[in-house]
Amino acid sequence: MQTDRPLDPIGVFDSGIGGLTVVAALREILPSENIFYIGDTARVPYGGKSRRTVERYGIELGGLLLAEHAKIIVVACNTASALAVPRMRDMFKVPVQGVVAPGAAAAVKSTRNKTIGVIGTRATIASGAYEHAIKALDPEVRVVSAACPLLVPLIEEGMFEDEVTDRMLARYLDPLRSAGVDTLVLGCTHYPLLRTAIARAAGPGVSLVDSAENCALAVRELLANSGIAAPPSRLGKLDVALTDATEGFLRTAAKALDLEIGDVALRSVQEVQKA
Ligand code: DGL
Repeated sequence: MQTDRPLDPIGVFDSGIGGLTVVAALREILPSENIFYIGDTARVPYGGKSRRTVERYGIELGGLLLAEHAKIIVVACNTASALAVPRMRDMFKVPVQGVVAPGAAAAVKSTRNKTIGVIGTRATIASGAYEHAIKALDPEVRVVSAACPLLVPLIEEGMFEDEVTDRMLARYLDPLRSAGVDTLVLGCTHYPLLRTAIARAAGPGVSLVDSAENCALAVRELLANSGIAAPPSRLGKLDVALTDATEGFLRTAAKALDLEIGDVALRSVQEVQKA
């Protein structure tokens, strides 16, 4: 696989629409890049699945992106970043960028009282990936984590401003508030879509760390360091594919994120080509 083709797309995937938050950040920070996004809507959610299964999904989705000539694979999913990135790095010759390390670094920079909250899927929290990454940067930081398994379905249903969502957030976040966190990592790329409701539930004085935004900054650095960034004078395009048709929700998400998405293609994981 060549990695010297600046005009080839950045390949991005997530289980569903959450990774579009990373795409929105990439479009903002790297407007000249082409992006090919795949949402694995046939198999969402990933958050309750085993390491083995999520690793297999990561390898299959990475294969689909390489078939689109991706010059770099961005794992825009915290669950897959926590569980599948090491295997994907072994398998693929292009760089693989996850969301956990950039989010952890931003959280360590943000905390003043050295108490960081992390919310994510069950699999992300059980993996301890954030705790590990944060403590590697600053062993004195206390990490208080909470799995929030009902948030992804609420977000996929578009319930961004809803009493049910607010009640779930209060239940998930109250223990973190009581623990005195001053920084909260949105450890799932779906969560920035709930940013306003999460900020309300977390209370004033808690800084939210968006793994999407920090991942996009890490991609910019990686492309520059590898010499494969697109020339700045052009305007890149965004192509989107799903592994199963969804009834227009992708467009609602795109609207929430102010993204321009043309026709949405379908891709089957059976078409996977190995790197
Ligand atoms: N956006 C994924 C993440 O960051 C979604 C999780 C899921 O599919 O459960 O973990």
